[in-house]
Amino acid sequence: MKRIPIIIDCDPGVDDSFAIALAYSRPELEIVAITAVEGNVPASLTRRNALGLCETLGINCRVGFGMDRPLKRPYQRDASDTHGKSGVGSVVFDEITLAPDPLPAWEIIYQEAVKHEGELVLFAVGPLTNIAMCLMLHPDLPKHLKRLVIMGGGTFGNVRSTGLKAEFNAWIDPTAAKIVIEGTEVYMVGLNATHAAAVSVSDFDEMIALCGDKYSSGLVRELCRFSRRNHVENGSDNNCIHDALAVASLIDPLCVGFEHHYVYVEDREDAANVGETVIDLSDTSGKAKNCHVAMTVDKKRFADLLKDMCRHYASL
Ligand code: BDR
Ligand code: CA
Repeated sequence: MKRIPIIIDCDPGVDDSFAIALAYSRPELEIVAITAVEGNVPASLTRRNALGLCETLGINCRVGFGMDRPLKRPYQRDASDTHGKSGVGSVVFDEITLAPDPLPAWEIIYQEAVKHEGELVLFAVGPLTNIAMCLMLHPDLPKHLKRLVIMGGGTFGNVRSTGLKAEFNAWIDPTAAKIVIEGTEVYMVGLNATHAAAVSVSDFDEMIALCGDKYSSGLVRELCRFSRRNHVENGSDNNCIHDALAVASLIDPLCVGFEHHYVYVEDREDAANVGETVIDLSDTSGKAKNCHVAMTVDKKRFADLLKDMCRHYASL
């Protein structure tokens, strides 16, 4: 079977870790690189977590370090309430022997895109800083990609200071979000889809039971346990495995339904809704449709993919 080469640009992140684990469990996908960006926790931690995840799961790919701050604004907030102090819930990577690739994230992304001659699928499930860098330095990037799938945006948000207008990844770096979302044809898996795909407590229980306690399945089980507990006890949205749904949209096209619309990103710092992805749902603006927006989800298909992932790691 010819596998689809993929890169995951991420800010691990509990749901980023799920996305990586899900992708690596699939025989039809080949992870050629994982690149880290600032986001859920500071870049010093997302970088460490990217290496730690590869080492623990046994992923043999390039690991690239990217930006440690947004393009224009300062790095404002970490989300360790949702993702734990380390960024990967209760998991701490004590000793890491893997070394990062010497090239910056955006050069790795471009190199691999060119090398794979239009076959590479790029997932960007953190703030879009690295992808914007890549587009600014290599404007021909899109023509080398099969697809760019981002987790971000939506018709509502999850950042309180914006009146819940902006989604976290877009809000951390609205300048980058504007460059990427308005500059390329992206598949945008946003909060409409990820909230509709929220994992139930009983599905978490089943996933936990399916995981064994061996090394890599122990990691996945811990991600499930942390998400369940943080959701039930602290009311976090850890039951939305946002980033893994972006990966699921490629694995199972029936899992996520996309609509084609015009989208722009509010990047003005003085706007109350800075970071909002404004989606012309009724297509009244007359502007050319530029974005595939995930609007529907088959919740059961997604949960089934996550359960298959648990079975896979338990069987190793
Ligand atoms: C997004 O923000 C982060 O907290 C998650 O990792 C996900 O990528 C959801 O808004
Ligand atoms: Ca993320």
